[in-house]
Amino acid sequence: MTTPALELSGIEMHYGFVRALDGIDFHVKPGEVVGLLGDNGAGKSTLLKVMSGAHQPSHGSIRVQGQAQTFSAPRDAAAAGIQMVYQDLSLVDAQDIATNLNLGQETLRKGALGWLGFVDRKAMRRSSERELDRLGVRTAPMTRPVEMLSGGQRQVVALARSAIRVNGESQGVLLLDEPTAALGYEQTKNVEGLIRRMADQGIAIVVVTHDLPLCYEVADRLVILNRGRKVADLPTAGADRDHVVGWITGSRPSMFAA
Ligand SMILES: Nc1ncnc2c1ncn2[C@@H]1O[C@H](COP(=O)(O)OP(=O)(O)O)[C@@H](O)[C@H]1O
Ligand SMILES: [Mg+2]
Repeated sequence: MTTPALELSGIEMHYGFVRALDGIDFHVKPGEVVGLLGDNGAGKSTLLKVMSGAHQPSHGSIRVQGQAQTFSAPRDAAAAGIQMVYQDLSLVDAQDIATNLNLGQETLRKGALGWLGFVDRKAMRRSSERELDRLGVRTAPMTRPVEMLSGGQRQVVALARSAIRVNGESQGVLLLDEPTAALGYEQTKNVEGLIRRMADQGIAIVVVTHDLPLCYEVADRLVILNRGRKVADLPTAGADRDHVVGWITGSRPSMFAA
């Protein structure tokens, strides 16, 4: 059996007296897309925040590529190869695509001026183009400010940036919270394609979405939360839609009920 890229065991998370997560076991393998489903308040965002190091669970353990890890902050998770793509995308509007793709890891020009920290924009643009080609992404010219892009193009830039970051690590993990919430049909199809191509490169992907058709398009496996508990975990192929909706709404009993 393949070692999971990311594995969580017995995760509990409290907000004061609210038990947002109650004994969650979860894993995602390299190259696998897991669709994380659940009604509002089910605990999806909280679980992603535990995976991304933004929240520390009250109980439970986290393994990355089989190694036990504790994340005190998102930078610890990032160092382990785990990247969260936030709903607000955190792009810098006034900057161009290449700069956004390289935020936080700007290519420094080698040579005499290198130590001054000059950013080599040409090298950055070239490497960004290579990375996008590899992901099969065509957006707009690298020099276009992202404020001039459509919602779908912005989402693609944000996803590609995260993919580039985790590709630097061996077998990274991408966490996506509602990546297509603001997108139209055509743009959603683009993002679906990108998610599949990223997975095909070996990236493990967890996608939170309300979009069931999207889940059926891109996810290999579905994990469903209901009021902080995992109520279903099954391959997408053959998962009955009525059953899935039942688990989401709570009308269908948990697969794991004793
Ligand atoms: N910062 C917070 N403080 C207190 N309660 C919170 C906080 N964030 C989430 N919750 C509660 O935790 C539960 C799970 O929320 P959340 O993870 O946002 O669910 P989802 O993303 O599935 O809609 C809900 O009951 C929600 O009200
Ligand atoms: Mg949420």
